[in-house]
Amino acid sequence: MTRTVYINGDYLPENEAKISIFDRGFLMADSVYEVSAVIDGKLADNAAHLRRLERSLHELAMPLPLPLAEIVAVQKRLIAANNLQEGTVYLHVTRGEADRDFLYDPNLPPNLVMFTQARAIINSPAAEKGLRVMTQADIRWARRDIKTTQLLAQSLAKMTAVAAGYDDTWLMDDAGNITEGSSNNAWIRRGQTLITRPPTHDILNGITRQAAIALLGAFGMTLEERPFSVEEAHHADEAFLSSAGAFILPVVEIDGHRLGDGKPGAFTRQLRERYIQFLRETAE
Ligand code: PDD
Repeated sequence: MTRTVYINGDYLPENEAKISIFDRGFLMADSVYEVSAVIDGKLADNAAHLRRLERSLHELAMPLPLPLAEIVAVQKRLIAANNLQEGTVYLHVTRGEADRDFLYDPNLPPNLVMFTQARAIINSPAAEKGLRVMTQADIRWARRDIKTTQLLAQSLAKMTAVAAGYDDTWLMDDAGNITEGSSNNAWIRRGQTLITRPPTHDILNGITRQAAIALLGAFGMTLEERPFSVEEAHHADEAFLSSAGAFILPVVEIDGHRLGDGKPGAFTRQLRERYIQFLRETAE
């Protein structure tokens, strides 16, 4: 089926939407993006994604291409046009088009594209089976808090992990501490303590991560926002990852170290359920 996608004010069949070869997103990854989940045909925690979009744009001195209310209207129109019940809406803002140059005109009009992707997030087999992750060096730039489209390092790392028989990869800084996953935030549980890296420039401050933190109160868990080592992760009681595209998914093995009994942990399962309930209650 041909999707309807959005490009700079137009709704087009996906094979008719085109971007210039001079677009700075194409030439220099000079662009930012957001991925919002859709469940029950509605946008999940979308306002928080759009707040982060504004922040990413601000950090790169890029203008907001449309008022937020109009962006939401486009997202909803794409969901309706493509009859999307569950999946994601992808949104990408580039700095615009100009002849190739490291300097840019701060007044370039940005390009905005959006499209939907259908996928089963709630009934994902990975939620039942759990994921096996492989750690690898984090070779990305130093402003990972900005959601740019410079995703080559993560893409290569995930390819390497999958080629080695794993499901995904967690990245590790020079000190041997986990930063985050290829496209998700990384968490471990040790006893009654949940540990995840604090939101500095080292990681993307996930919207799912923030929602999960807000939901922790109900579980009587202590949260420690601090770096944790690969070694600590190998010996965790449970581990999981969080992202808009996966929600909360259990990690059952890290670098061949089986966590607990090798099955998705009970806490992860409960947090995933509570998170899906939160999304269902607030999706719009
Ligand atoms: N990625 N860290 C990285 C590097 C990410 O790319 C993502 C999300 C996250 C989780 O953020 P959130 O909970 O806001 O989705 C953390 C999206 C889903 C992607 O690239 O498809």
